[in-house]
Amino acid sequence: ARPDITLRVATDPTATAGAAIAGKSGGDDVPDHMPDLEDIAPLYDAKSENTALKRYKSDYVFSLSKNKQYWNKRATDLITWDNYPFDESSCDGIMTGGFEYGDVAWFPGAKLNVCSNAIDRHVQNGKANDIAMIWEGDEPDQVLKFTYADMLRKVSEIANALKSQGVRKGDVVTIYMPMIPQLPMTMLACMRLGAVHSVVFAGFSSEALSSRIAASKSSVVVTADVGMRGGKTIPLKKIVDDAIGKHACKDIVKKVLVYERERSIVPDGNIATDGNAKCSGNTPQINWFPDRDVNMNDILPKQRPYCPPESMDAEDASFILYTSGSTGQPKGLVHTTGGYALYAAHTIQTTFDLQPNDIFACVADCGWITGHTYVVYGPLLSGGTTVIFESTPMYPDAGRYWDMVQRHKITLFYTAPTAVRSLIRFGDDIPKKYDLSSLRILGSVGEPINPAAWSWYYHAVGEGKCTIVDTYWQTETGGHIITNIPGVTPMKPGSCTLPLYGIDCIVLDPMTGKIIEGNDVEGVLAIRRPWPGMARTCLDDHERYLATYFRPYKGYYFTGDAVRRDKDGYYFITGRVDDVLNVSGHRIGTAEVESALVKHPSVAQAAVVGRPHVIKGEAIVAFATLTESNTEEDDELVKELRTLVRGEIGPFAAPDIICITPLLPMTRSGKIMRRVLRKISAGEADQLGDVSTLADPSVVDTLIALVGRYD
Ligand code: WTA
Repeated sequence: ARPDITLRVATDPTATAGAAIAGKSGGDDVPDHMPDLEDIAPLYDAKSENTALKRYKSDYVFSLSKNKQYWNKRATDLITWDNYPFDESSCDGIMTGGFEYGDVAWFPGAKLNVCSNAIDRHVQNGKANDIAMIWEGDEPDQVLKFTYADMLRKVSEIANALKSQGVRKGDVVTIYMPMIPQLPMTMLACMRLGAVHSVVFAGFSSEALSSRIAASKSSVVVTADVGMRGGKTIPLKKIVDDAIGKHACKDIVKKVLVYERERSIVPDGNIATDGNAKCSGNTPQINWFPDRDVNMNDILPKQRPYCPPESMDAEDASFILYTSGSTGQPKGLVHTTGGYALYAAHTIQTTFDLQPNDIFACVADCGWITGHTYVVYGPLLSGGTTVIFESTPMYPDAGRYWDMVQRHKITLFYTAPTAVRSLIRFGDDIPKKYDLSSLRILGSVGEPINPAAWSWYYHAVGEGKCTIVDTYWQTETGGHIITNIPGVTPMKPGSCTLPLYGIDCIVLDPMTGKIIEGNDVEGVLAIRRPWPGMARTCLDDHERYLATYFRPYKGYYFTGDAVRRDKDGYYFITGRVDDVLNVSGHRIGTAEVESALVKHPSVAQAAVVGRPHVIKGEAIVAFATLTESNTEEDDELVKELRTLVRGEIGPFAAPDIICITPLLPMTRSGKIMRRVLRKISAGEADQLGDVSTLADPSVVDTLIALVGRYD
């Protein structure tokens, strides 16, 4: 079942943003003094390809032709294995299985523990007193610094605390926490025990949390009384209580382990602090269920600060992460121990050139794959210093990132284009106020970076001296798969450039599924062979894993993205071809939003599409027909619907526009023509294409008028 694909090249954000630079459209948010594209385009000059790029090309060819030898070398260079039954002369068994059955296994039989790779081996290798983690709290003066020795003690205590509450190898532990140091530490503690963590981003609602707890049958949930973001308090424990109270979670959760945020961030004598991490002393009131709830801050001091790591098989599951797809239910992707850890270390060292003295700040939340791979595992597996950031780019003001760069002398900084675009509005003077000379590489992730944002990031933040790495990847891929490499790949704004080593990228004709060779072509992006970091299954639903990724195009992993490969072989991602939106770098399934909307008794049918948005990348536009014939614009109802989506999924999924409409564009066979909704929402009603199959063509004018009210 191949998805019904219309390439959405017209909504290519790079195209609209290119026009914005030249001052043709979208002028509101893009300052006039933006340099012209021509200023930055010469970064790539095909004629004078550097020697490093030539070297990349031959290494890339080698990584594919001698794929197993390549990964054998990386695996032995980057990971310390408890047992590694392969060597260069016998590395055939390094990878078994394939895409047909989705039975891929990397390094089967090899043994390791991810946590001891991320912490213990650095302590043993003379890095005990190096800083592993800098925590920057919601208030800029809340700073804690943990050495690798501190991490070993703290993570061990947490692991022992989890053990004391019954957590064992193979158990699923749901983590619903704010970005306090104990979040990555709890993830690492699970890895130490061989327990499988399932981190749920703390912006998800109780409903979304409850379905994730239920789906993974997780009997232990770790949370905090509250989270703090931008000065606002988020009642996490209350949300957990609500989630567990829901029918789906009945009898599943046995223990809720609760950190008190205030007590958790007080430097305890051992831990260095820059500022004065203050404790306000007023611990918020939360409900307490004595049979179920356990106060982590009470039991941690009783634990032994060493816990032996469990030796895991490379193919044992290490974590589950839920992500949105084309259908209503989010899928729990399962990542492995060996392949994932190797891929996290390999990509951060390749893409960010991470060196021991680097201070790496990936400002994503640990609740997303970017946080897993590049806040926690990549940097720590590489023995680097990782920054964990609890706040927002706007708090207390739009200089927060740069203030942080200056104070911690951050060398590698990683954020999403949406954050960059939201900062451009405040002008170049904000970053100019800070000393940003420590920066060496700037990363971009989550969506294509439009040239206007690229240029501001490059000039105003990087002062024209930093490489911008445009990293393309997915929850499913575990780590970067297409990105430029600093000092190697010439940059092209808006392009994630060329595939990383070992990643066999191909462009397919969306209709025939045939490989499109050559350059200057467009199609859908697929990958031809397994790589260590790929997710291995969907939790309890291997059929869905096969159906989503391997059946649409036989023999290939299908990314769900459309792509253009330009005349130099550079890749430009042009957007999802399935019904997944990318809003501020967050993946949101239109089906999920639709099923939330139809829960309202007044809604008969709902259809959700995205439309280009100058800051968010995509905005969510919802259309709903009502059960009763009353189709008057009803502000109250629209408000209720928005609240409903916030409650069902989370605030970040609330539609930007909700149109109550008398009818939807249906084909005569009863299918909603989303393409029509997309075009009308994007103000491209003149490019509707063939609408002859519409049951009632008058719907087009009705919808144009409705959407017109929001322009
Ligand atoms: C999109 C986030 C263009 C893409 C790491 C992909 C990008 C989806 C880029 C995965 C990029 C991510 N350029 N598009 N550099 N990075 N995407 O699973 O559509 O949250 O399929 O993983 O984000 O989103 P996910």
